[in-house]
Amino acid sequence: MTQLFSTKQPKTAKPSFPTLRGTTVNARKIVDSKSAKAYRVRHILLQTEELADQLLSNFRGGDMLFTEVAAQMSDCTLTKEKGGEVGWVDFATASDPEHHLDGLLPKNVREALVPGQGTDAKTGDVLKIESHRGVHLIQLADIMVDVRERGKKRFRAEGNNWRTAVDPSNSGKQLYYSVETMGCQMNSADSERISGQLESMNILPLDEKDEKKAQPDVVVINTCSIRDHAEQKVYSYIGPHAKRKRDGESVSIIVAGCVAEQEGEQLLRRCPEVDLVMGPQYANRIADLLEDVGNGNQVVATAPEYIVEDITKPKRDSTTCAWVNIIYGCNERCAFCIVPSTRGIEQSRTAESVIKECEELVKEGYKEITLLGQNIDAYGRDLSPKRKFSDLLNMIGAIEGLERVRFVTSHPRYMSDSVVDAVASNPSLCNSFHIPFQSGNDKVLREMGRGHTVAKYLSIVERIRNQIPDASITADVIVGFPGETEEEFLDTLKLMETVKFDSVNTAVYSPRPNTPAAEWTNQLDEETKSDRLQRINRLNLQHAGERRARMIGRTEKVLVEGRNVKKPNQVYGRTEHGYLVYFDGTIDELLGAIVDVKLLESSTYSLTGEIVGRGE
Ligand code: SAM
Ligand code: F3S
Repeated sequence: MTQLFSTKQPKTAKPSFPTLRGTTVNARKIVDSKSAKAYRVRHILLQTEELADQLLSNFRGGDMLFTEVAAQMSDCTLTKEKGGEVGWVDFATASDPEHHLDGLLPKNVREALVPGQGTDAKTGDVLKIESHRGVHLIQLADIMVDVRERGKKRFRAEGNNWRTAVDPSNSGKQLYYSVETMGCQMNSADSERISGQLESMNILPLDEKDEKKAQPDVVVINTCSIRDHAEQKVYSYIGPHAKRKRDGESVSIIVAGCVAEQEGEQLLRRCPEVDLVMGPQYANRIADLLEDVGNGNQVVATAPEYIVEDITKPKRDSTTCAWVNIIYGCNERCAFCIVPSTRGIEQSRTAESVIKECEELVKEGYKEITLLGQNIDAYGRDLSPKRKFSDLLNMIGAIEGLERVRFVTSHPRYMSDSVVDAVASNPSLCNSFHIPFQSGNDKVLREMGRGHTVAKYLSIVERIRNQIPDASITADVIVGFPGETEEEFLDTLKLMETVKFDSVNTAVYSPRPNTPAAEWTNQLDEETKSDRLQRINRLNLQHAGERRARMIGRTEKVLVEGRNVKKPNQVYGRTEHGYLVYFDGTIDELLGAIVDVKLLESSTYSLTGEIVGRGE
């Protein structure tokens, strides 16, 4: 067997990870074979070694995707259609001749993957291994490591007899869960992954329980800490469930997301009824963690974690629009922002796994995909070989049957012309950009540590408007940043006048723990901040109204997403610009359809129209 080349290692993953045993390992070790329990593998079966070697050199050049080659050239009829996907090879059963994978991956091939058998292969590596079936090219698509060994503190919940619903003694009882999601799209995507895992444990969503006023047995609160008021909501949400527990009900309370990461163990002190505190990087590990909870531990999982590919499918809220994470974490250090300390360092998913997820979504009938990343333009810089976000966009844009692709969030420091070019040239990439500017003043931007100027921002806008005049541009802005003067604030309003955004998420600066700006002594008073917020909101509403009004009289393609709860004879959907549109129609007939809608009126946040065609 020869290990021929390595396609992926998280080069930027440098921090140390403490283990329960008190030793410290670095990020590379975490994902290496020594802590591995299993690999998820794909394979290509070939009849000659010559062909295998030729393909390997093509992979090495980075110009061929393993899954595509598997689908086109593999001799393995059982895995060919699935891009060579075999599944997990568990080292505990690798030498078992009765193992269910035996027909696909013979025993000698599985054994060769076990660490210590001559390879210290890592995820992304491609190996060439011979068997009686022929020559296998094996790609290690993912690695499963023993999460219980790392970064997770357990507390014996001794001295109290609060029961948790996932206690094995409750077995036999059907459990129901609820997930409350706060904050950004990233959290919505994490909640869907959490729900998927709970359902794979046979815990059902509460709304399937046929009982009025039913309460969940497993309560997940997926929290946001971007601003202080978001954080405060968490405690008020936990309260009633904590009381249920104190009153003797068996309920498991899980705090996930950024507040969990930020507060860690403190949360258990403040709310001792909580069973599990898990940071965002553990979103696809909840099943493992709950096992520990079931064994009577209170668990805090907040240590930095390498995010492996999802083992279970997310339970998606929508049947038409889906989130797809492409890069986790953020390596920027904006002086106001807590995200890097709660979501960790950047970690790009491989282009292959992103494309595979998108293709599967298309097969399931999804029409629109939103790609997610805190700084999406950083995509691929931690991969080896490096990838560019615009290349990924072009690949996703070419997926047949995928009607619409959106992406958030662009960062003006890194956003390249090639991203605008990709959107301009590819019909399925929506003509819609979300590019936070945060301030319209260079001094404030410098203090924020944003790494871009107003001129750079405006040059991006100019490029978009030149190439795609009709594109919508939305943004985020913060007012009342420490030391911001009235003149500097007026520069922000001026930038808004220059650009005329389709809409802007406006926020008052909120000091966050562990961020530099929170320590500064030049904080503004609440009155000044709220006055600036009101003024910017007025301008924002005015511009948004003007931009929306330009749509009146036009016929636009609208993807129908749901029924108007206030007017059941109406449905709603979005144009490719992202405008919300209501119009008469039957949801059973129209859900997921792209229809032509003539836009007739504009109100504060939406448009109304009438359907004039099926939009094909
Ligand atoms: N990654 C994105 C970017 O490049 O700006 C945004 C991430 S953050 C989740 C979303 C928005 O929250 C930011 O764009 C910023 O406007 C706002 N935000 C972040 N920290 C804030 C703070 N301390 N106070 C007020 N708003 C904040
Ligand atoms: Fe936050 Fe700046 Fe990253 S706003 S998410 S630190 S790009």
